[in-house]
Amino acid sequence: MVCVREIDPLVRKICELHDKISKLENLSPSKEVDSSSRSSPNRLAFVGSGPLLLTSIILATYHLKSAIFHNYDIDRSANSVAEKLVSLNPDLSERMVFHTKDIMGTNSDELRQYEVVFLAALVGMESDEKVRVIEHLSVNMADGAILVVRSAKGARAFPYPVMGPDCLRGYEVLSVYHATDDVINSVVVARKCREFSGENINQGFDILSAR
Ligand SMILES: C[S@@+](CC[C@H](N)C(=O)[O-])C[C@H]1O[C@@H](n2cnc3c(N)ncnc32)[C@H](O)[C@@H]1O
Repeated sequence: MVCVREIDPLVRKICELHDKISKLENLSPSKEVDSSSRSSPNRLAFVGSGPLLLTSIILATYHLKSAIFHNYDIDRSANSVAEKLVSLNPDLSERMVFHTKDIMGTNSDELRQYEVVFLAALVGMESDEKVRVIEHLSVNMADGAILVVRSAKGARAFPYPVMGPDCLRGYEVLSVYHATDDVINSVVVARKCREFSGENINQGFDILSAR
């Protein structure tokens, strides 16, 4: 077992790298997601957060400064490294929650609490496996909640599955962004469709609604 003191320099180095990367222009999200925005989310999930939970850290540090981030990973060692990483920052460690589990084992009681769910590129190594994960999320997320899925285009599809609008049943696709610089991933932003029957129509979220 590795003691925390032994890996401290590594964790510190990673934090410095995070800091540098987070200042890259092309990683800055739209002003719409900043804490000051009237519909900014308070409770988000990142599925497949991995040992270097860059997206959660950047959003929590620079944009959603009071939001709580629930980070899911099936791999205990990934979560353990991630927890040590955020433990260096008291604010982040209070707002980062870790769940070591297969996302396919979550239910709607759990997933409908999140206003936004990010799905990492490699949760589902092949397209059909990833579509099954998206279907599971669609059945269990709250109506109106936002799903952000990493995708890829062209030669960038070699390492990552391509997720087109046809893979997002149960969602309304709001935006597809294909990076054209050194960032490899494309991003698809979609809203969980409301169920127009039943009594839960008003229990969903109203994130990124038309203004
Ligand atoms: C490439 S890594 C980290 C992703 C990266 N931080 C990102 O921004 O895309 C993907 C992670 O997903 C996790 N993962 C894969 N399948 C999963 C599942 N079914 N449920 C939860 N986590 C999963 C893996 O253990 C791995 O740590």
